[in-house]
Amino acid sequence: MKLPKDILTIPQLSRQNIERILFEAFKFKEYRGAPKARDQVLEGKSIALIFEKNSLRTRVAFEAAVSYLGGHPIFLAGDNILYRAKSDTSRESIGDITQNLDRLAHGIAARVNNHKSLTDIAGYSKNPVINLLCDEHHPTQALADLMTIQWHKGKTNGMKVAFIGDGNNVATSLMDICAVMGMDFSIASPAGYEIPKKFQDIAKTIISQTNSKLEFITDPKKAASLADVIYTDTFVSMGDEAESKKRALDFKTYQVTTEIMRCAKSDAIFMHCLPAHRGDEVAAEVMDSKQSVVFDQAECRLHIAKALLYLLYK
Ligand code: CP
Ligand code: NVA
Repeated sequence: MKLPKDILTIPQLSRQNIERILFEAFKFKEYRGAPKARDQVLEGKSIALIFEKNSLRTRVAFEAAVSYLGGHPIFLAGDNILYRAKSDTSRESIGDITQNLDRLAHGIAARVNNHKSLTDIAGYSKNPVINLLCDEHHPTQALADLMTIQWHKGKTNGMKVAFIGDGNNVATSLMDICAVMGMDFSIASPAGYEIPKKFQDIAKTIISQTNSKLEFITDPKKAASLADVIYTDTFVSMGDEAESKKRALDFKTYQVTTEIMRCAKSDAIFMHCLPAHRGDEVAAEVMDSKQSVVFDQAECRLHIAKALLYLLYK
């Protein structure tokens, strides 16, 4: 099944789309040699990679994936190019930037502060647009997360994923992919830090077609109970830095500890999108335990980037 032109959120993808992305990603995982001729789908093409926020994994995964597929990645720091509505340093509107990039490159992947920037870019762009993280979603992360679960558990069907912490972009996309794939998802967040209701409602609509369960609670132990996957992310996302002190207090009892891991199944895995903060959202002994698959998860970012671009441009 053909992918949509733009990959901005997980619910835009069907279960068949996601299964195909994972199928291709596992092929890329198995084959780590010199690029194959069939993979050169970006030969003669350039992909603009816009980053309004910092990145290690996403930038490296996408730059490497574009190169592997025979294309040329062009890194653009958001600060240098983007329109800033109320600033003297504003340069160009998103519409003009996109229409230029449509002539100069063959696709845009962007990490932005506000999701609306992505829908604006996608509205102007004739070429594919990929969301590399925004304030609301992190779809390429969720695809890599699903791949990691398949890698370590041998299946995704029937799995219970428990997220402990902030109902942020990573949690939203993880919930979304669990809903589309028919997996159970339970999240424990302090009051005031839940996944936004509008996204909960979209996921609830999706699961009305599947057999999965969604749970939105405040008790980390209950969320972790008999889970196959325990997942957390930073309590202070990029853009939330001004709230750091308040968040440290509000999330005090939400650290993933050995005690939390004991509530899950004995063969549960620990996942984190990274960057991680040992001693904040995760105890060092969990992060560095045998149950932790965080670096395999980071590796999957590369396989998913290749698979997505391959399917969009083949
Ligand atoms: N997980 C993730 O998106 O990492 P980066 O912010 O380093 O890209
Ligand atoms: N929630 C984090 C994820 C970083 C990969 C953030 O938005 O900063």
